[in-house]
Formats: sequence, structure tokens, C-alpha cells
Amino acid sequence: MEKEIFKGKEFIDNESLPVELDAALRPPSFSDFTGQRKTLERLEVMVGAAKKREEPLKHILLCGPPGLGKTTLAHIVGHELERDVRVTSGPVIDKPGDLAGLLTNLQTGDVLFIDEIHRIPKTVEEYLYSAMEDYRIDIMIDQGPNARSVRLDIPKFTLVGATTRVGLLTSPMRSRFTLQSRLDYYSREDLKKIVLRSCHLLNASVSEGGADEIAGRARGTPRIANNLIHFTRDFAQQRADGKISRKVACEALELLEIDEMGLDEMDKRILGIIAENYKGGPVGLGTVSIAIGEEQHTIEEVHEPFLIQEGYLKRTSQGRMLTSKGWKITGLSESGNGKSNQISFM
Ligand SMILES: Nc1ncnc2c1ncn2[C@@H]1O[C@H](COP(=O)(O)OP(=O)(O)OP(=O)(O)O)[C@@H](O)[C@H]1O
Ligand SMILES: [Mg+2]
Repeated sequence: MEKEIFKGKEFIDNESLPVELDAALRPPSFSDFTGQRKTLERLEVMVGAAKKREEPLKHILLCGPPGLGKTTLAHIVGHELERDVRVTSGPVIDKPGDLAGLLTNLQTGDVLFIDEIHRIPKTVEEYLYSAMEDYRIDIMIDQGPNARSVRLDIPKFTLVGATTRVGLLTSPMRSRFTLQSRLDYYSREDLKKIVLRSCHLLNASVSEGGADEIAGRARGTPRIANNLIHFTRDFAQQRADGKISRKVACEALELLEIDEMGLDEMDKRILGIIAENYKGGPVGLGTVSIAIGEEQHTIEEVHEPFLIQEGYLKRTSQGRMLTSKGWKITGLSESGNGKSNQISFM
């Protein structure tokens, strides 16, 4: 029995809905943010202390797979500090001059958020060191005999860096962050709360069961959960009575070919290729990438972390290998004799 149909309409003030939907779903403050307890607590301590001492917050590095809330947390930090947040991304800052421009335009205490910080060019990274440590940069102007270095003082700012690949950051860069915090995949309960909150903000009717079903198939990732909500809501409107019940959510997500474990077509192709063509591995990532026609870094950053965390795949020094759980998903038998009798997805 489905109970407690949640009618967003009763709670929402339509006029206060921000125009951009994605931004509308972003929790604006610590108290609205669900999950990531450890990271949240660390940030609350640092932000609280910085505010009390009226000092700029120390630099923070957030790492973890895409869609878990790094950008959201950077905005929350700015909001809690009551400071502006300037947003940029590593590959955009391709000259020291760009960095100087960005930094000199900040106000004391402002937050500079650099997404994909592992992609900052090496030549710029060195300038960032002195900016982070001494709040100044020495820029070379002119060339040849006229070349001279000019020192620019910059306001005391807070750098919040985000990366999906912390291993690619140099150690001098990493050591300049006072806090490094890793975001983990969300539990099903936390995701369910996020689904209920998003549905509420989107004015979508969802039952507890419907929210749970979406949460269970969102591979621990709020961004995926939000995307699934959008589709499920459309599905509920077109193919049902507009309410997202468990049954409606299941049907909608089956149409998207997302299974009960949240595995999508690409995940299954990755596992399938390793099973069928390479007898379960070990096989190099480059080979898998060519075989399935997907970029290596997408497999590495988007698909692999979840497959490894859930125990379908493992990384060895010789390459990627299927686990028994991974074999089960493919429906093939480990001994290489074609289809097994095991029922997959159980
Ligand atoms: N704890 C949370 N509670 C509610 N919604 C969340 C939470 N974390 C993330 N979201 C939602 O998920 C979406 C993705 O989050 P965000 O953009 O912060 O991820 P990210 O870690 O920066 O991803 P990427 O690495 O791809 O930049 C946001 O639109 C936000 O609405
Ligand atoms: Mg982001």
C-alpha cells in the first residue's frame, strides 16, 4: 500500500521558485544539505570559527565523483560566510594574467571556487601557490631586456577547489589546502530525503515508495536522482495519473533501462565487454575504452568509481577485472561457457 502522497503544491510558494531548475534544487545552506556528514561537520567548524574570528576562511579542497555536491557545497560556504562566490574552472585559467585578473578583482573574504582544479595548467599553478600562501603574486611583464617582475597584492580570499581526480593534483598544490575532504556516494536513505525535497521544490507528487525507488536507482548520486525525477515526473504525467508511486517510478526507470541497482546501459556494456571479449580481464582501460567507444576519462571518472565501490569490478596492476558479482550481472558464466543458469540482477 502506498501512503503519504506528498503534494508539493501544498507547501510551495510558486513566486519564490528560482528560474533555473537546477539552481533551484541546490540546497542553499548547511541545514538544507543532506548527507556527507563528515565533510559537512568539518566545514561547519571551519566556517563558524572563521566568522567568529572575523578572519578569511582557510583554503578547502573537495574531491569525489561527479554530481555529489562539490559545487553546491562551495556555494553554501559562501552563503554561510555571507560572502560572494566567484566561480571558474581549471582549464579556463590558461595564462597567469587570467589568474591575476581574477584574484585582484576579489574582495577580502570572498570565495574563489575553482572547479576541475586538477586541470589548471602547470604554468598557472605556480602563481596560485604564492597567491594561496602569501596573498600576492609576482607577474612578469614584457619580454627580453625589458622584462620585469611586478608584485601584486591580492585580498585575503578563500580558495575552494573541486576535483574528481585528486590523484592528479601535485603535492605542493594539495598541501596548500588546510582541509581536504572527500565526498562519498550517498546512502539510499539520504538520497530518498533528497528526492522528496526535490519533488517538493518541483511541485511533483511522489509517494514514499516512489521516492525510495528513485533513490535506489540513482547510484548514490544526487545529480542522477534529480535527473531521474525529471523523467519520472514526465512519465507519471503522460502515462499515469501524475503521481510518482513506486510502480510508476519502476516503469519509468525501466524505460530508461536503469535497473534496480542503478546500473545503466553503459555500465552493463563495460562489464559485458570485459566478460565476453577478455574472459573477465585483466584488461587495460584503454582497450575497454576503444571496445565500447567511450572516452577513457569518462569511464574512469563516471562509471568505474561506482562499479568498483559496489564490487562489480576491481582494479589490479594488470588492468580491470570482473568480480563474481560483476560476472552475475553479465549473465555469462565465469568459466567462459556462455550463458550461465544464474538469473542476473538478483
Ligand atoms: N546533499 C544534497 N542535497 C540535495 N541536493 C544535492 C545535494 N548534493 C548535490 N545535490 C544536487 O545535485 C546536483 C549536483 O551537485 P553539484 O553540482 O554540486 O555536484 P558536483 O560534485 O559539483 O559535480 P561535478 O563534479 O560534476 O561538478 C545539484 O544540482 C544539487 O541540486
Ligand atoms: Mg561541480
